[in-house]
Amino acid sequence: MKKFKLAVFISGNGSNLQALINASKSSDCPFKIELVFSNNPNAFGLARASQSDIPILTLDHKAFKTRQEFDATLSKKLEQINFDLIVLAGFMRILSKDFIKKYENRIVNLHPSLLPKYPGLNTHEKVLENKDKFHGATVHLVDEGLDTGRIIGFSKFKVKKHDNYDSLLAKTHEIEHKLLPKICSLIATKKIILNKNNILINGKSDQKSKEVIF
Ligand code: GRF
Repeated sequence: MKKFKLAVFISGNGSNLQALINASKSSDCPFKIELVFSNNPNAFGLARASQSDIPILTLDHKAFKTRQEFDATLSKKLEQINFDLIVLAGFMRILSKDFIKKYENRIVNLHPSLLPKYPGLNTHEKVLENKDKFHGATVHLVDEGLDTGRIIGFSKFKVKKHDNYDSLLAKTHEIEHKLLPKICSLIATKKIILNKNNILINGKSDQKSKEVIF
């Protein structure tokens, strides 16, 4: 079976990368991780990749004067690698317009909230502040806005009275570790087709089928 190739971008711990690595080890998994990229040379996720013999690429963003310069260098490096989809899994940098345009409909992001609620940082704090009944995680297509791209799928859980920052963080991670490999598998097997205006899920437009909910 020809596997669908992922380039996974990380900046830190990489527990979601680990979930993708674990899933990819099963023989019937439709995807493989072709590359792990990090803008942080000290990201623990790089060690996770190396342990599983996955090629790694690092470019320290601090060594570049502008975002454009960093993205252009990254873009050149990526031209030497054959991959189908970029997966932002805890990648803490905004990508420039040119980079997003070049990989249009080929970048997905994992975000720790039920988008469109709480784009950006500190999502668990906001859920607590607002006494939300539900919290969760979303995978969406990346566009030029901050966490604004078309939603592909999400997973949610009920917030309990005793929940605090640490418990929300742990519960969010737990669902993310299932959600991200699931969505990558559905994209790899073309059950989800990415298109800026109309994501197709099982052959239906997401207007009709809504997003994939787990
Ligand atoms: C995840 O919660 C993800 O939603 C967010 O960053 C976190 C990364 O965690 N974008 P990890 O590095 O995968 O452990």
